[in-house]
Amino acid sequence: MATLGVNIDHVATIRQARRTVEPDPVWAAALAELGGADAITVHLREDRRHIQDRDLEVLRQTVQVRLNLEAAIAPAMIEIACRVRPDQVTLVPERREEITTEGGLDVVAQKTATAAAVRRLQEAGIVVSLFIDPAAPQIDAAVDLGVEAVELHTGCYANATSDRERHEQLVELSRAAAMVRQARLTLNAGHGLTYRNVVPVARLEGMGELNIGHSIVARAVLVGLTQAVREMRALLT
Ligand code: PXP
Repeated sequence: MATLGVNIDHVATIRQARRTVEPDPVWAAALAELGGADAITVHLREDRRHIQDRDLEVLRQTVQVRLNLEAAIAPAMIEIACRVRPDQVTLVPERREEITTEGGLDVVAQKTATAAAVRRLQEAGIVVSLFIDPAAPQIDAAVDLGVEAVELHTGCYANATSDRERHEQLVELSRAAAMVRQARLTLNAGHGLTYRNVVPVARLEGMGELNIGHSIVARAVLVGLTQAVREMRALLT
């Protein structure tokens, strides 16, 4: 059975739209835990567009399940991670102009810089996962670096526009998953997973944690809206 890491970045995105104090991702993490989250995931981006340094620090003190920090391999981010000490750091690619993470980390092309980040984090006692495309060269490179886990990028599977394409992408994920299992690394996956497409990925043999953000926060807005309106309406009567 796969476990669930709930990515709460979008809660901070709503807060940052007004630079106010609500909704607080720290509260969201507590509610996600109450709902059964096995881990809380946040991405502290270099441009701080959603999660802030304060959020990460308070989450470190309050989250009772595993705290997974997504971060770029930039030395400044690695230093923050080593100071705050999340349970796991997932190294991700980052471009300022992107709306969300696009594709996996190119470990093959950035092996030296990735190796330095991995070493520094492992020396600090932090479990390291690499967010990579489900491609053999990337998995081989991750194995070479001695990380504990990889998170397979499920974006191409999620973006498939036909059943056939979706099936082909699932086969790619399944092949990649087999390689990860064979190398005895922890197998995680994420990006673009929804209530409609998650089950086949969760059922891949040996699947560990699925990191899911957008779809859960999007649903939370809708399932919570009626109650929120009812409460405001009651104040006006
Ligand atoms: N995994 C990684 C490495 C990510 O960067 C993200 C998005 O921040 C996710 C999982 C979650 O993706 P989504 O928000 O599409 O569920």
